[in-house]
Amino acid sequence: MTEHPVWHESESFWEAFEGFVFPPEQIERAREQVEQVLELIDLDSGPDADADPDEDKQILDMPCGVGRHAIVLADCGFAVTGVDNTTPYLDTARERAAAAGIEGSVEFVERDMRAFDQEGKFDAAINLYTSFGYFDDRADDERVARNFHDALKPGGALVMGIASKETLAGRFRKRTWEQRNGSYMLEEHAITEDWSRIENRWILVENVDDDTGDAEDASGGDSDSGDDDSGDGSDGDSDDGSTENGVRETDATVREFSVTHRLYSAFELAELLRGVGFGEVECYGDFEGGDFDENAEQLVIVARK
Ligand SMILES: C[S@@+](CC[C@H](N)C(=O)[O-])C[C@H]1O[C@@H](n2cnc3c(N)ncnc32)[C@H](O)[C@@H]1O
Repeated sequence: MTEHPVWHESESFWEAFEGFVFPPEQIERAREQVEQVLELIDLDSGPDADADPDEDKQILDMPCGVGRHAIVLADCGFAVTGVDNTTPYLDTARERAAAAGIEGSVEFVERDMRAFDQEGKFDAAINLYTSFGYFDDRADDERVARNFHDALKPGGALVMGIASKETLAGRFRKRTWEQRNGSYMLEEHAITEDWSRIENRWILVENVDDDTGDAEDASGGDSDSGDDDSGDGSDGDSDDGSTENGVRETDATVREFSVTHRLYSAFELAELLRGVGFGEVECYGDFEGGDFDENAEQLVIVARK
């Protein structure tokens, strides 16, 4: 039997869900988030008083995905290193950097975040969009946190943005779904192991005719869908996707992934960060520095080396 890689190490997983994880509005939100993060940690792009005046400030974005924050940071005048282990995402990130004319200010590195080891290079580091807690072994989460710590200069700041236990509890829904460009993403969520993990079923239904009767208008990137997993599209013979009795038949394909990861409360994540050497650790409820209270949108942590 073929061994499937765990979801976060599966290129086909990240490719399949790219359109849902990084829709245009998420790409656009990155500029505002970057501005808020820079203000939160009081960092501007000029050189340090005691640094080489020609040297740009260095920021690590790990994992960087398709580079939405890294590119904005480079555009703001920082020297940026984006780290991720999904090759097609890094290709997209490099293309976007070239299109923005800032490829000289950002380097995209293909690496597992558990193995990233640069000592004392960065003024700041970011880990955004719930990109922590992926690994089965908690020691791997600690390793990632330690890699961030070691990569920072003394006084450097790590900014994390995650869905924490508290924020999830406030808005938990067992099932959710979304529709985009003729595809549907269905999610089922379960809290397990005494609130230490969340187990999600992510189901992608592609090539579904939309309400207007259009054939799939899949824009970009999904051209190989349906080849990998049994195209279990219907055997219906309708050309316009509908039948007389109102039942719509389509050539839809279905792919399903099990997406499970560790959950942290604000206290637990702050303790983990202190445990790997961070000094001051502050928790906020958004990137504007709002309180981490019952109205928090997400857990935003600023940890100083
Ligand atoms: C939810 S995305 C967030 C990306 C980015 N932080 C953002 O906000 O756009 C999570 C990313 O983690 C990457 N990833 C998953 N496991 C990884 C690992 N072990 N090492 C490096 N990157 C990893 C995936 O390729 C994906 O790009």
